Amino acid sequence: MNHLTLKLVSFAEATAEIQSIRQIVFQVEQGVDPALEFDGLDDAATHIIVYAQVYDQKQPIGTARIRYLSDRLAKIERVAVLSAYRGQGIGKRIMEKAIAWLSEQGISEVKLNAQTHAKAFYAKLGFLQHGDEFDEAGIPHIEMRRPVEVAVKI
Ligand code: COA
Repeated sequence: MNHLTLKLVSFAEATAEIQSIRQIVFQVEQGVDPALEFDGLDDAATHIIVYAQVYDQKQPIGTARIRYLSDRLAKIERVAVLSAYRGQGIGKRIMEKAIAWLSEQGISEVKLNAQTHAKAFYAKLGFLQHGDEFDEAGIPHIEMRRPVEVAVKI
C-alpha cells in the first residue's frame, strides 16, 4: 500500500490516535476490558503508529507498543491494524519497524504473547512458540520469542 507513514512515538505524542485504534480493535472488536487494555504501562513504552494518507488527511490505522523488560529483552504488545487495512502487509511493517528499533537499542531478544489466531502472522516474522497455551483477557494466547540481531555501530 502506498502513502503510509510509520512513526516511533512516545504515548504522549500520539495518545488519542493510539487509544482510538486500540479501542476499536481490542475493546469493540474483541471485547477486551478497557481496564486490562489501558494498564498504566503505556507512558514507559515506545509506541509505533501508522498513518494512511486518506485524501488530504493522515488517518491513524495501526499501532503497537514496545516495553523493555531488561537490558537485553523487550516485549512487543498491543499490535493492531484497523480491519479495513488488514492483509496488506501493514502488520508486518509495524513488526519489522519494532525489531529494527530494538536492534538499534542493543536488545538481543524479543518476546510477545500472541493471540493463538495470530500465531502464523508472528511465525512468518521468525517468532517461535515457547511453552503452552494460556488465557489472557479471556483470549487464548501463546508466548513467542525470537532473537534480534544487534546492529553494529561504527
Ligand atoms: N493468521 C495467519 N496468517 C496471518 C494472519 C492471521 N491471523 N494475519 C496475517 N497473516 C499473514 C499474512 O497472510 C501475511 O502473509 P504473507 O507475508 O505470506 O503474505 C503476513 O502474515 C503479514 O500479514 P499483514 O498483512 O502484514 O498483517 P495485518 O496487517 O493484517 O496485521 C494483525 C495482522 C494480527 C496485526 C491484524 O490482523 C490485527 O490487527 N488483528 C486484530 C488484533 C490482534 O489480534 N492483534 C494481535 C494480538 S497478539
